[in-house]
Amino acid sequence: MSYGGGGSGGFGGGFQGRGGGGGFDRSRYSGGDRNGGGGGYGGGGYGGGGGYDGGRPSYDDRDFDSIQKVDYNSVRTAGIKKDFYTESSATRDRDPREVEAWRRDNEVVIDDPRCQIKPIVEFRELKVPDALTQLFKQSGYVNPTPIQAQAWPLSLGGKDTIGIARTGSGKTLSFLVPAMVHINAQDPLQRGDGPIGLILTPTRELAQQVQQEATKFGKGMNVRTTAVYGGAPKYEQRRQIEAGTEIIVACPGRLLDFIKSRTFNLHRCSFLILDEADRMLDMGFEPQIRRIVSQIRRDRQTLMFSATWPQNVRRLADDFLNQPTMITIGNTDALSANPNIKQIVEVVQEYEKPQRFTTFMEKAYAGRVVKSIVFTETKRACDYLSNELGRRGWPVAPIHGDKDQSQRDRTLKDFREGKIPILIATDVAGRGLDISDVEYVINYDFPQNVEDYVHRIGRTGRAGKSGTAYTLLTRNKSKHVAELIQVMEKAGQEVSDEVRALAGRGGGGGKFGGGGRGFGGGGRGRGPY
Ligand SMILES: Nc1ncnc2c1ncn2[C@@H]1O[C@H](COP(=O)(O)OP(=O)(O)OP(=O)(O)O)[C@@H](O)[C@H]1O
Ligand SMILES: [Mg+2]
Repeated sequence: MSYGGGGSGGFGGGFQGRGGGGGFDRSRYSGGDRNGGGGGYGGGGYGGGGGYDGGRPSYDDRDFDSIQKVDYNSVRTAGIKKDFYTESSATRDRDPREVEAWRRDNEVVIDDPRCQIKPIVEFRELKVPDALTQLFKQSGYVNPTPIQAQAWPLSLGGKDTIGIARTGSGKTLSFLVPAMVHINAQDPLQRGDGPIGLILTPTRELAQQVQQEATKFGKGMNVRTTAVYGGAPKYEQRRQIEAGTEIIVACPGRLLDFIKSRTFNLHRCSFLILDEADRMLDMGFEPQIRRIVSQIRRDRQTLMFSATWPQNVRRLADDFLNQPTMITIGNTDALSANPNIKQIVEVVQEYEKPQRFTTFMEKAYAGRVVKSIVFTETKRACDYLSNELGRRGWPVAPIHGDKDQSQRDRTLKDFREGKIPILIATDVAGRGLDISDVEYVINYDFPQNVEDYVHRIGRTGRAGKSGTAYTLLTRNKSKHVAELIQVMEKAGQEVSDEVRALAGRGGGGGKFGGGGRGFGGGGRGRGPY
């Protein structure tokens, strides 16, 4: 797999056209125009190594063998208060037919047919401290989103909850609000106590984002939140933990490091959340999650949220939750992409990608600068694409698991602030990141599976906005096409004949296992941690 240089296939050809009439002033951005319009991709190309980079752990779980399960018979614990839900009269008095219609319109399904709990359709029906309600107003929220409306009464009532709802539909607050209320009602932290709420996320960037959201919404309730993740110095995280923190948002590896070194324990923890639950439970993370959960009391409350819920992780969830209720927005069996995202898929040969991509970008950026995230399969491809585009004056920056964390943080900050409008990323940026004005997601390489496709394209079209996803699909990915078509059709998207034709080809070309770049299985590998 290399880029045939020059001619119509090379980047050179495609990018030369930008010249003067382009949509943005190149001189504003770094990268300059060193290439002067010559070039073409030629030479090396990428391919071969690189390794899938989807936020999987890079450490060996055996490093944590010394962490033993906590026997709560021998640890002094206070009781946990769990049930804080009283139905408001407005909720109670709502006509069941109206509730029925609301559920139908919003495609809300509760897996327990006996569960009669009514949704909280308007904020005024939600009885939580004023500090929170004020923040909703300040944030400009008009009504709870469907997942919030239906998950809040259950989770506030103390029930273990699984919430599956589309990307950008407000799942973060679906779990933060009950977490805040729960924490507020427990005995205050004593010196040396660990957190009451623990939120696990698969990537460092997501941990930081959730920490910021929790800090914002916890302020009025004196709930402090600390993010704990690798790649950043331990002392600052340790200092915050030791000063007392009601919530820790963590990536599993660094959290286990702190537990192993007895910086804190989870004896006070009574509220556990797995954000991106399916990623957290899949094979890459399962051993770490089991170890972490073995530190937490069994009578805790546990919530799991994601936009996808593949069969192979459903079984695992039973080990961690206690008689959970599952709320799904959209179809319970199939993957649901956000219908506000226009999905364009083109079937291409590998060598055609630079040209097709360029043509798309030229159009997208004609006369304006918008935000895009371009996903590649490997770290190496990410760097390569970023270099090639940067050389031609495109305002891009790469983010992947081999970059220093400080670099990753700076790049993401620059992207959020619009200083760099095009982010070239591996799947480390595929899940959870909420950057409201991303207009385009481009799958330069198709992801490892259709779940990841749904998450990646979900970086656009958030909170009711619209967006566009452009995907370059090569024939060796045809085994995913049947499922991809389902996702597209369910979201009301047009599927081209060329994509349909590829579906007929069935399971060709897989990249799993074998070869040097497959993923899955154990192995330390070099991941983002
Ligand atoms: N009730 C609401 N009304 C309007 N906007 C909201 C509401 N609740 C949350 N939001 C906003 O919606 C955006 C998306 O929320 P969030 O990041 O929680 O989505 P998500 O469902 O977790 O998506 P993903 O699956 O990609 O992680 C955020 O910017 C958030 O501030
Ligand atoms: Mg999220």
